[in-house]
Amino acid sequence: MLDTLKKLQNEFEHDLSNIADGSSLQNIKTKYLGRKEGLITLLFEDLKNWSIEKKKEFGGSLNELKRKIEETLAEKEKTLTEKNVFVDLSIPAIKPEVGHMHPISQLQKEIEDIFFGLGFDVQLGPEIESDYYNFEALNIPEDHPARDMQDTFYMDIEHPKKHPGKNIVLRTHISNMQVRYMEKHKPPFSVVLPGRVFRNESLDASHEHTYQYMEGFVVGKNVSYANMAWTLDYVMKEVFGKDVQTKLLPSYFPFVEPAAEGFISCLVCKGKGCSVCKQTGWVEVFGCGMIHQKVLAASGYKQGEYTGFAFGFGLSRLALMKYSIPDIRLFAENDLRFLNQF
Ligand code: PHE
Repeated sequence: MLDTLKKLQNEFEHDLSNIADGSSLQNIKTKYLGRKEGLITLLFEDLKNWSIEKKKEFGGSLNELKRKIEETLAEKEKTLTEKNVFVDLSIPAIKPEVGHMHPISQLQKEIEDIFFGLGFDVQLGPEIESDYYNFEALNIPEDHPARDMQDTFYMDIEHPKKHPGKNIVLRTHISNMQVRYMEKHKPPFSVVLPGRVFRNESLDASHEHTYQYMEGFVVGKNVSYANMAWTLDYVMKEVFGKDVQTKLLPSYFPFVEPAAEGFISCLVCKGKGCSVCKQTGWVEVFGCGMIHQKVLAASGYKQGEYTGFAFGFGLSRLALMKYSIPDIRLFAENDLRFLNQF
């Protein structure tokens, strides 16, 4: 009897090594444990004919063998199903969601490329700034009414001594980089600087407290207002198409003189007048002007040696126009139904 059990065990081990998939496992299971013909089942059926001594002698080993076969097969089944989940090519795969750049970042890259093509460098600057670089160095002294032009987040933190200026602010524009950049670079140069700016604004469909902005400036000998007008007209045509027109109207920014506000012809009504352009046919999109001699002096340049122009615009405002979007707040809400359209 012991021999029979031993043989059965060997045979089972041999069969086990041949199991490759679920169906061969099922066959082996039936062969040994099948309810009618299973080899182990048959032995158990035979048990009732055994003598008491035989039962005593082999009953335990038979039980043991049955338990072992059951356990081994259960384990094999488990590893097989795990393996199957991994290799089963018929299970439809979960399609990974592929992300993409935010529409404002896309537009920013596009505009960077346009300026890059004109020979501009692309640089970044700090978002937390001293009021010196954000205002004072730009000909906006403390207590000057021009400070009211930009609602500012003043920060309630100790000022590190090495920094000129009394307060820390969240930069309200990237014009803060004019003096910072000019202190370190010798003209001629042309540079654009994209990034976030912060305004303490009441929010509505066209105002955000945080938005993407792009500053640019060009300094050298004999850089002219005409150079500025051409550059901005060229860039707007590249962004919005050849049919778009630009115009500059006199304006006021303390750090440029003369200063101008830049308009493009309304893309929605093609200049005929609509609610987007408030019936004027024109939409204001940037500020610009010839860099004030006081700003050039604050940067350490000799009086009269260089001239330059500067400009700044909100990228969200441009994106609103380019994609005809009714509300600027959509850009910050991160609603995928909106973002997936770009
Ligand atoms: N910094 C100005 C603003 O944020 C824009 C500007 C930049 C105007 C450079 C003139 C020159 O409104």
